[in-house]
Amino acid sequence: MAIQWWAHRGSGKGALENTLKGFEIALNAGFRAVEFDVMLTADGVPMIHHDWVMGRCAQSTDPAMAGTDPLTPFNSLRARDLRHFDVKGEPLPSLAEALAFCLQHGLQANVELKATHPANARALGCAVRAAIEQLPAGQQNHVQQHWVFSSFYHASLLPLKGFDLALLYEQLPDNWVLHADALQVSAIHLHYSGADPTALRRIHTTGRVVRVYTVNDLERAKMLQALGVKGLFTDRMDFASHSF
Ligand code: G3P
Ligand code: MG
Repeated sequence: MAIQWWAHRGSGKGALENTLKGFEIALNAGFRAVEFDVMLTADGVPMIHHDWVMGRCAQSTDPAMAGTDPLTPFNSLRARDLRHFDVKGEPLPSLAEALAFCLQHGLQANVELKATHPANARALGCAVRAAIEQLPAGQQNHVQQHWVFSSFYHASLLPLKGFDLALLYEQLPDNWVLHADALQVSAIHLHYSGADPTALRRIHTTGRVVRVYTVNDLERAKMLQALGVKGLFTDRMDFASHSF
């Protein structure tokens, strides 16, 4: 079976990452699946963003906020404050907007839950579940059957039990299977540096799928596929059509 390519952060790290415009770029490049990051604002709204602080991904567009510290924590801002930030001219989408876009365009999604603090890890999972429950029943079923929810912060996944879940790791720890069994995850998402044959064998013997991030090199991609990896997250928008 051909490897499945996922557009990392919508359209790759940098540029228009985690924006609807970025998702459109991935779609036009031939991707049928995107990965994006979701975080909670200070007032508990799930929004699409990667970094814990502002500055790299999104900048303020409000002259009144011109002097805003570029290291302002994302979770200190309310959803309405974030309307005054953009990613190279594109607004930061809410999770609801990202869900609607992907459903409208038939994009499969991997929603990566990024807790900004251990104390809000579970609240993030609850907010993501609530956003899905706002959808019509048919779309909720589609999300439940086809989408993947992943996190480095496993408590975030607890409220999403029953959905297709994946644990994220840079390197596979010894106790991974305890968490995987407790959350009944179907997959492990690993950084390529941790995706060695031993780690892959340990996961595969439990019947779970492995997807690897972030693979921007075709030789590495081929090697990982030969080791049984099923999905790869990439920043390279020209990789969507590479099948081997
Ligand atoms: O979900 C895979 C990958 O996106 C994890 O790393 O930092 O790009 O969110 P990061
Ligand atoms: Mg991510």
